[in-house]
Amino acid sequence: MDEKKVIAVIGATGAQGGGLCRAILADAGGGYRVRALTRNAGSDKAKELKQLGAEVVEVDIDDVESLKRAFRGAHGVFCVTFFWEHFSPEKELAEAKNMADAAKHAEVRHVIWSTLEDTRMWVPLGDRRMPTLMGKYKVPHFDAKGEANRLFSERGLPATFLLTSFYWENLIHFGMGPKKGEDGNLYITLPMGDKKLPGIASEDIGKCAYAIFRKGREFIGKTVGIAGDHLTGGQMATALTKALGMEILYNAVSPKVYRSFGFPGAEDLGNMFQFKRDFESVFCGARSLEFSRALNPSMQTFENWLAEKGREIPIDIGSSRASGE
Ligand SMILES: NC(=O)c1ccc[n+]([C@@H]2O[C@H](COP(=O)([O-])OP(=O)(O)OC[C@H]3O[C@@H](n4cnc5c(N)ncnc54)[C@H](OP(=O)(O)O)[C@@H]3O)[C@@H](O)[C@H]2O)c1
Repeated sequence: MDEKKVIAVIGATGAQGGGLCRAILADAGGGYRVRALTRNAGSDKAKELKQLGAEVVEVDIDDVESLKRAFRGAHGVFCVTFFWEHFSPEKELAEAKNMADAAKHAEVRHVIWSTLEDTRMWVPLGDRRMPTLMGKYKVPHFDAKGEANRLFSERGLPATFLLTSFYWENLIHFGMGPKKGEDGNLYITLPMGDKKLPGIASEDIGKCAYAIFRKGREFIGKTVGIAGDHLTGGQMATALTKALGMEILYNAVSPKVYRSFGFPGAEDLGNMFQFKRDFESVFCGARSLEFSRALNPSMQTFENWLAEKGREIPIDIGSSRASGE
């Protein structure tokens, strides 16, 4: 009989969940099995996970009954929502509730909820430093995740709240790579002033989540923050210059200018960066590099990540202005 504990992974074909699936599958003797959850078991990514040894089960996080079936018999579940697919904090909250209800129903022993800060605890809605968005949020994709924490704790679930960091893959996939300025130089654009931005190789999020599951009860009821580096925009530009072999400069615009860029989510991200800038010690302090490396000894630095992925960063030589995440 297979005595391995099942970890059911939401977003298994994506960045966070995919990293967790691969971390578990790479550790054949670790005592855990992967149940990879996807909306489409027939996709190439789902088939790849199956080939690596995962059980693949279809789920839709908008359908609580599908979640109950998918979590059945699982020891642990990894829960994440997908704000950038729909831009709706209310939908994230409803999906988090579905996952919490299903985890309770399945009586799982450990839930990891991939969350972020509810920035309204530091910047209340009446604070005019940054605009209120969608009527009741400062940073919608953060606030909804932080607000959803209580959905897990109120149900008495054995939950760990995992605070993630800015993926360096945003330089590849989210239009945040270097762009040519009007003066002909290449720039990365962030409204962070001289403050440090905690960043991470997205694959490391899953490795940290696996380490948290392996620690058993140690992190149940706790908030755990992770990052691979805390770097200023200037430090990121210097590392990019070295890795890409071309000069990249840092364009430190104001959050107001960033919010005005006009791409979908620009205001949300402008507020997000402003929060990270204005509460640097809180935000970096919640994501200790020492702790992160103790949890996941192979945690990549930005330099490590650039050595592996730097060549995938698109260099936009046609645009005079940066867009965003
Ligand atoms: N970008 C950043 O820097 C950053 C940093 C920290 C946190 N985050 C947060 O990370 C979250 C996204 O996580 P991620 O980057 O791992 O996502 P991702 O790579 O975009 O993956 C999303 C996966 O989720 C699945 N999915 C989408 N809708 C679903 C649904 N309704 N039911 C079930 N599965 C669904 C999709 O798989 P199938 O198509 O196979 O179903 C997809 O592969 C966002 O909420 C974002 O705010 C992002």
